[in-house]
Amino acid sequence: MVTMSFHLMNTSIDWALLQQQARAASEQAYAPYSHFPVGVAIQAGSGKIYTGCNVENASYGGTICAERNAIAAAIVAGEREFQALVVFTPQERLTPPCGMCRQVIAEFFTPESPIASCNHLAQIQQWSVGELLPSAFTPLYLAQSAKVETRKLFDSPESSEPKN
Ligand code: THU
Repeated sequence: MVTMSFHLMNTSIDWALLQQQARAASEQAYAPYSHFPVGVAIQAGSGKIYTGCNVENASYGGTICAERNAIAAAIVAGEREFQALVVFTPQERLTPPCGMCRQVIAEFFTPESPIASCNHLAQIQQWSVGELLPSAFTPLYLAQSAKVETRKLFDSPESSEPKN
């Protein structure tokens, strides 16, 4: 089964490499409670690939998904823009990002950005960010009411301070 929507394909994205990296990341998952390992690979604006796996916690609520861990790894490396994200789960049913991860994805990816899910059978399904989270609440809304420029929220810490 291949349910890739080809209109979303971006030729500068190495999907095979992203799938391979997402799979490798899933092998590092810390998932002793759910036994549901997840790996994610994202291609950042620089072209570099960052990965993440889910890290569970005995409190359950302290669990962090693979998507948010991959994005955090890219952010700490200085990335602020992203091109594509691939989720890997070792099961037939292809796994889309959870609601909380969709919100975090919408913070950094454009609504047109491709998000894909793949499995160990090399099946892949793809969505755009806008399909996964329509009418997303993004920094744009804050930028209007707080009268700060969205870009500045990302660019320098002092510019995100409220100005009196
Ligand atoms: N999980 C992810 O890492 N990403 C998702 O998009 C779905 C859920 C993780 C969280 C938890 O460790 C396990 O999968 C079961 O929910």
